Amino acid sequence: MCGIIAYSGKNGTNNSARELVEGLKKMEYRGYDSWGVAVATDQGIFLERKTGPISRLNKNPQKALPFGIGHTRWATHGGVTENNAHPHVSSDGRFVVVQNGIVENFLELKKVLQKKGYKFVTQTDTEVIVHLVHWELEKLNKEQELDKKSKISSPLSSTSSKSKLSIEKIFREAVRATFLQLSGRNTFVALDRKTESIVAIRQGSPLVIGKSDKEVFLASDTLPLLGKVPEIVYVDDDQLVEIKGLSLQMFSAKTGKEVKIKTQKLSQEVSKIDKDGFDHFMIKEIYEQQHTVTEAVSYSEEEFLPLIKELKKAEKIYTIGAGTAAFAAGQIARFLREAGYSAYELIAYDAESYIPIITKKDVVIAVSQSGETADTLEVVKVLKKKKVPLASIVNMMNSTLTRMSDYQFFSRSGPEICVASTKAYTAQVVWGYVLVQTMMGNYRKAQREVHELSTQLQEYFQQKKYQKVIKKLAQKLVKEEHVFVLGKSQHMYTSLEGALKIKEITYKHFEGFSAGELKHGVIALVEKGTYVFGIVGGSTKEKQETLNALAEVKARGAKVVGIASEPHEFFDVHLFAPDSNGLDPITKIIPFQLLSYYLALELKNDPDKPRNLAKSVTVK
Ligand code: F6R
Repeated sequence: MCGIIAYSGKNGTNNSARELVEGLKKMEYRGYDSWGVAVATDQGIFLERKTGPISRLNKNPQKALPFGIGHTRWATHGGVTENNAHPHVSSDGRFVVVQNGIVENFLELKKVLQKKGYKFVTQTDTEVIVHLVHWELEKLNKEQELDKKSKISSPLSSTSSKSKLSIEKIFREAVRATFLQLSGRNTFVALDRKTESIVAIRQGSPLVIGKSDKEVFLASDTLPLLGKVPEIVYVDDDQLVEIKGLSLQMFSAKTGKEVKIKTQKLSQEVSKIDKDGFDHFMIKEIYEQQHTVTEAVSYSEEEFLPLIKELKKAEKIYTIGAGTAAFAAGQIARFLREAGYSAYELIAYDAESYIPIITKKDVVIAVSQSGETADTLEVVKVLKKKKVPLASIVNMMNSTLTRMSDYQFFSRSGPEICVASTKAYTAQVVWGYVLVQTMMGNYRKAQREVHELSTQLQEYFQQKKYQKVIKKLAQKLVKEEHVFVLGKSQHMYTSLEGALKIKEITYKHFEGFSAGELKHGVIALVEKGTYVFGIVGGSTKEKQETLNALAEVKARGAKVVGIASEPHEFFDVHLFAPDSNGLDPITKIIPFQLLSYYLALELKNDPDKPRNLAKSVTVK
């Protein structure tokens, strides 16, 4: 949710604008309503902002200095306009600000600032940060001025007066004082032309520093840093970073005291961030699942054991996630229940009522692609305070969630760039399956099954005939407005995830629910010609129950699409998906992923960047 970038290079270089735009392109999945860059120049600050996808700058900054900041926006406050795009410039043109987060007390602060005479020219909450920094700067400058005067008039008072602050420190302190007045989760960066410094504070949304002997970067994630810098520094909540040229300092944003910088090597073993010949990241990532399912479980039995020990002694196990990750968390909880454990899934954005009943005798498993989802982090933070042991399965390395976790696992799927999650979901489910099977003493069997699954997926993707049927169905669905997806037991989550995938990138109303729910109300919506999908998989009983539900809708004129390994007389369209025992939720989700992709293409939607969405939901 919004991508931030800052760049500071060696004196004499003038590639800041190029570096910023290049970096933003790699973070475009974080928000693509508008974007902008600001670069320091000999004359002041060059600023260009645009709506729509990240492209090229209209102009190149003249006499550019080697530092600047940039932003790609997912709009929260204020419409998608060039004027609301970041960076936002101070009224005196001295500094610019980019922000990722929401200033929750923005209206309150705005009123105060308006009374002080500040004119608001955008609808954003970010603008309060800009004016507040300006106000704090003025205040500190005045204090310094008074101090100077009192020293001149009374040289004897010099020992008792405050020491003179450098202009860099004044700017840093103004940014810090601003931060202390904001409520909500706010990460923001300010570039000051006067001091030639960049000051950033992290609270909530992630921020990472990349360093080499030629340049320093600040970014919302490591993707723009890959191949550029050997070392990174993760910025923690409430930390302030000051960059001037190649020098870097970190402070506590709460106390102003300097903190030690903990540098680490940036692992470059991340898959390339290009489409590898595919038309879109989504289809590339769908295909990648034939390999990522095995990567997700490339843990030895010993590596699972510490968590298993904790889970076995737990009174209750809770899994938690949001959106797609919540469905994966649901599937994992189901695996645990089937294995005889008291496990419950929590939906992160609605978990509040569970918090009082979760104790340190329980264990929480948090599921997340990014490890930065605000809804999930908020619950987990409270539970950590209650000393509840925390395990996580996360795709992005070194995320906030991972760093908070007592048991850290990675889904190792490589960057998932398409906003709609595909390979991260299947990786999370497969990981949960192997974890639970290992708890039951079946580690080897589970690993074998995952390798068989990988082969099944390879064969599936090779057979173009399956995708031909999906493409044909996509053409038929172009005019449909409401489609229902039925799944039973283990496929209830598949139906929810399948429907979500299609909603996200086709903007069509697909609704997933348990086949059992049909007779309790939903069947009222079925009329002649309504498309109803049925996921026919799992045990004979599960298959039969879904088929019964399909018979009932068929009797009312529905057009039935069966996702199954075998054709059936009830199916008007049969989408083949192999059976895969415990891993059936994986093979059965693939046709939905492909259908959502091909239907989006039919509708001329960009599958990688669905409207209104962003990849990493770092605001509440
Ligand atoms: C849907 C999707 C979202 C995310 C959700 C949680 O395709 O990607 O529903 O699953 O926003 O994000 P993470 O997994 O990063 O915690």
